[in-house]
Amino acid sequence: MDKPKFYITTPIYYPSGNMHIGHTYTTVAADTMTRFKKMTGYDTYFLTGTDEHGQKIEQKAKEAGVTPKQFVDKIIAETKDLWKLMNIEYDDFIRTTDERHEKVVQKIFKKFYEQGDIYKSEYEGMYCTPCESFWTPSQLKDGCCPDCGRPCEKTREESYFFRMSKYQDWLIDYIETHPDFIQPQSRANEMLNNFLRPGLQDLCVSRTSFKWGVPVDFDPDHVVYVWIDALSNYISALGYASENPELFNKYWPADVHLVGKEIVRFHTIYWPIMLHALGLPLPKQVFGHGWLLFGGDKMSKSKGNIEYPAPIVSRYGVDTLRYYLMREMPFGADGNYTNEAMLTRMNSDLVNDLGNLVSRTVAMIEKYFGGVVPAPNAEEEPDKALSEIVEKQMNALQFSVALSEIWKLIGDCNRYIDITQPWILCKSEETMPRLQTVMYYLAECIRAIAVYITPTMPSTPAKIYEQLGLTDESLMTWDSVKTFGGLKAGTVVKKGAALFPRVDVKKELEILNPPAKEEEKKPEPKKEEKKAKAEEKKEEPKSDDGYVTIDEFFKTKLIAARVIACEKVEKSDKLLKSTLDIGNGETRTVLSGIAQWYAPQDMPGKTVVLVKNLPPRKMRGIMSEGMLLCASDNEGNLKLLTVDGGEFAPGSEIG
Ligand code: ME8
Ligand code: MG
Repeated sequence: MDKPKFYITTPIYYPSGNMHIGHTYTTVAADTMTRFKKMTGYDTYFLTGTDEHGQKIEQKAKEAGVTPKQFVDKIIAETKDLWKLMNIEYDDFIRTTDERHEKVVQKIFKKFYEQGDIYKSEYEGMYCTPCESFWTPSQLKDGCCPDCGRPCEKTREESYFFRMSKYQDWLIDYIETHPDFIQPQSRANEMLNNFLRPGLQDLCVSRTSFKWGVPVDFDPDHVVYVWIDALSNYISALGYASENPELFNKYWPADVHLVGKEIVRFHTIYWPIMLHALGLPLPKQVFGHGWLLFGGDKMSKSKGNIEYPAPIVSRYGVDTLRYYLMREMPFGADGNYTNEAMLTRMNSDLVNDLGNLVSRTVAMIEKYFGGVVPAPNAEEEPDKALSEIVEKQMNALQFSVALSEIWKLIGDCNRYIDITQPWILCKSEETMPRLQTVMYYLAECIRAIAVYITPTMPSTPAKIYEQLGLTDESLMTWDSVKTFGGLKAGTVVKKGAALFPRVDVKKELEILNPPAKEEEKKPEPKKEEKKAKAEEKKEEPKSDDGYVTIDEFFKTKLIAARVIACEKVEKSDKLLKSTLDIGNGETRTVLSGIAQWYAPQDMPGKTVVLVKNLPPRKMRGIMSEGMLLCASDNEGNLKLLTVDGGEFAPGSEIG
């Protein structure tokens, strides 16, 4: 009988630079899922790749002084190296610059045009270049991109449009009648309430303002807009509409598209409509996972809050990072990433729990039975059918729950050692039979644990099998752990190196995130200096003299902030609402009574002085978070204080 098939995809990544830990998240999840499905009897196909077209890449290549193709080629090579490092076993890597892909995109575009789904018109709207997204005025947040918070540009150009509205009712009905299609469920509600029920706008699907894209073959001034290009990868990679459609016939529809939550909209609205217009079945599921946050913000290059996988993998092994990513946060939710939490978890879950269990057990079998696994004298088994529980959770993509169930067994085994006290059982002939059972039980549980962790931690099981002396591959399969007792008595164990290194968290953190350089730190003042300082302090006037002390003054946090957007506050002729870049990717909204002296369009680009630590205050229903400093003359006219030159980074301290 044919195996059931399982087709899984990650998004195709933008080749914009070094990939960070956040990027590895989707890929590790997809790889884990693929390995699990393979182990449980599926014929799997795992697709990943890169999304290489668009204005952003064109610009970056220009800045780097190379062609777009040269620019992306280098990054794609690095991306593939990273996937190797992360132990990602994909079946295919599609590049949107592959000829096989471009041909399919052109065919799809033409078909849409010929059947009247696409028409030509003019576009005016706001475009966020970093996100490659168009927004209508009502979608903008404080005049900026609702996804990344950066300013958008107004654009007007001749474009092709896809009649999305034509399919809206069909899609609402589809989503309502297929509750598994969008997961987690909350994301389905978001799509229905925020986008579909209010009504879809026709989607701009071509551009003339840049060239780096798939040309529309019947209108060469146009290139295909990035999302039509990008989404098609899931079928072009399988040979859809080519001379070689076998893979497509076999694997489509996809079983699951794994995507980050910010691109759920494209995958559950535009993509299903495109597929439906092509007469193709929809993917069975789109799963929108959460973000790895770093310091409370989405880990992303543009915000500078990133950790890279390579140093972590080289110090602690790839399985440590894979385990942490899959274990720490429920799949679907956001979670903070810190090296400290990762190291702490490694010490506790991997070194103390798993590593210790294996090394203690092997050491005891060596000590009490000369390294030979004894035959049990009684039937003793873990009390629950762990394989069923793990399977159920893995099938629901609940990696963290599956792992915590596996770790319960590990914990139980460690407690079992503490309770049965083998070091006492070994003391008398009478208790030796019991010791045999205990040792067999532990070794057999370890075998099962090694099998269960294989999808998430593919390089650790081999080390465990080696220590257990296990070479029979039929005892390493998923099926083999469904019944207890597969391990053969007589197997010879062999103590090996610790599975995971125990680390001093503090020391490691200093290596991973070195503190600021010595010279940047203030040197300890010498004794005499301290004394002199104390004297000075005594002589410092008190604030009730009309003076403020230097300490009091510096309680006010002043920083340079750059205005990125500004608008008039409705029904107020005094107030302007400014959106400020305050550095580190953070923004602030501030209201100021300066509308008489400044027009909103004059504000963006100014580097102003923000009082950062005032309590937020609501005015006209809008929260104002701070105050812009102004000078005022005798008539009460206001002029903003600005930072000379304007080239200072937002967030720079003033004082
Ligand atoms: O969106 N935490 O590509 P991309 C979790 N080309 N996941 C993260 C993350 C973080 N901090 N940062 C990125 C694109 N990701 C498009 C897709 S598909 C037809 C086109 C995830 O390189 C992100 O959520 O910006 C997404 O799933 C993947 O990395 C690729 O993101
Ligand atoms: Mg992105």
